[in-house]
Amino acid sequence: MLGQLTRSPASLAGLRSSTQLVARLSQSSRPVRLHRAITSAVSQADQEATAASTAAAVQQQQQSSSPDGTGTQQQAQQRKVGAAGPRTSSKEMVDTSPPRGTRDFYPEDMRLRNWLFGEWAAVAQLFGFEQFDVPVLESEELFVRKAGEEITDQLYNFQDKGGRRVALRPEITPSLARLVLGKGKGLALPAKWWIVGQCWRYERMTRGRRREHYQWNMDIVGVPGVEAEAELLAAITTFFSRVGISAADVGIKVSSRKVLAAVLERYSVPPENFAQVCVIVDKLEKLPRDKVEAELAALGVSADATEGILSALSCRSLDQLGELLGPAGHDALGDLRQLWALAAGYGFQEWLVFDASVEWLVSNAGVVRGLAYYTGVVFEGFDRAGQLRAICGGGRYDKLLGTFGGEDVPCAGFGFGDAVIVELLKDKQLLPALTQQVDDVIMVMDESLRPAACSIAARLRAAGRRVDVILEAKKMKWAFKHAERSGAARLLLVGGGEWERGAVAVKDLASREQTEVPVDQLA
Ligand code: HAM
Repeated sequence: MLGQLTRSPASLAGLRSSTQLVARLSQSSRPVRLHRAITSAVSQADQEATAASTAAAVQQQQQSSSPDGTGTQQQAQQRKVGAAGPRTSSKEMVDTSPPRGTRDFYPEDMRLRNWLFGEWAAVAQLFGFEQFDVPVLESEELFVRKAGEEITDQLYNFQDKGGRRVALRPEITPSLARLVLGKGKGLALPAKWWIVGQCWRYERMTRGRRREHYQWNMDIVGVPGVEAEAELLAAITTFFSRVGISAADVGIKVSSRKVLAAVLERYSVPPENFAQVCVIVDKLEKLPRDKVEAELAALGVSADATEGILSALSCRSLDQLGELLGPAGHDALGDLRQLWALAAGYGFQEWLVFDASVEWLVSNAGVVRGLAYYTGVVFEGFDRAGQLRAICGGGRYDKLLGTFGGEDVPCAGFGFGDAVIVELLKDKQLLPALTQQVDDVIMVMDESLRPAACSIAARLRAAGRRVDVILEAKKMKWAFKHAERSGAARLLLVGGGEWERGAVAVKDLASREQTEVPVDQLA
């Protein structure tokens, strides 16, 4: 996970020895011996606080299992007893783990997050999209749809102190719709907008699925044709290529709600049975075929129609499906054929996989791609190795604004989460090596020269250099190590004979060469 991937053992350095012992022992599966070992090992003064935090840590270990197999549990255990070590006060140590399913971002984790968000922002800008933002807390009614979607059951919702029903957004699309409605006719169309924001879903956690995640969204408002979907897919594949992922690693399944509708129309299933038929067909993986056929028959679907529906939904080629559907498929397949032609123009057609099957397309609630609002083309990025959940997903939603009481405006967009992509980059060993970004470290050799060191820092920063000033008296050896750990290019020493000559000693940390540079020539 983005928040827990890059934490190095160094970030846990500085544990007091009794705390380290507690942390190590608390990973043991034998709580009774563990408790005895601890109570004899730590000082009398530490005992009370340690026993309390250890009991909590052991309990936590027994209750929780690492949701993603990335060593999170061990880190959580170490943090549970507190990196600051047990305190001698009678107060119980606060639980230092974040709420289950959520993440902390230590500075080393932020480097990766900033890199990923930077790539997303760069792609959105390459495509001429404009950034927008909305609150994480929204009115609950924005997300409560009647379709029985999973996303509604997973809402983090509550009543605020003013008695209003509010929710932490599980997705951003309804907020975008609210903004579009808010502008009304004043919004120049088409609008192309992007955002990266945190979303909350009370979900069962698996690898790459958490209770909060960040989502990159790009949406096009006001374009009815598949030119919009093609542009969005071009942005997604551009991002993948930038981070080193190829069409051999990732595919994008594409279908359309209209394809499903055309299949059902071709076999005379009335539109009101659409959702139910989809849910039944979706059971094919779990139930024997005759049971599925019996359930369809109970809905009045004939054996011939069942046969036709099942073979149509297993088609993996547009031409094959076109032959089966005849004129009924003209509209739906026309969109997809046009999308493929545009993809060839952009050069990303090798990423696309036509897939009419309902397993990915329809959720338990019978809604397309898990969300009730999709009306046309839908797509989902998947890892071809089949190890991970959906990497990204989106589609056309031309009727969402209407459901909020406004005038419908054609829209298409996608959401791309931060969790699965990081897992994929990790599997493919494509995670960038990111170090702290500092150019210069400044150390004073004589505390009376600290104001001078401050003026040098100010001068260098004004010139755009990233400068870290050592703020306390430290030994030279510490300063070198610190400068190297920060990835700095230079260590500047203010003091000694150089200072008397109006200069500072500049140590180049790559070549290890030291030169004397007059202060007025520093850059
Ligand atoms: P979605 O398929 O529900 O679509 O989510 C989009 C992406 O968000 C997923 O493919 C996945 O990368 C990420 N994601 C979703 N839930 C989680 C989770 N619990 N943990 C980690 N990552 C997650 C939507 O949300 C639509 N609103 C997308 C959209 C935008 N459609 C049109 N415009």
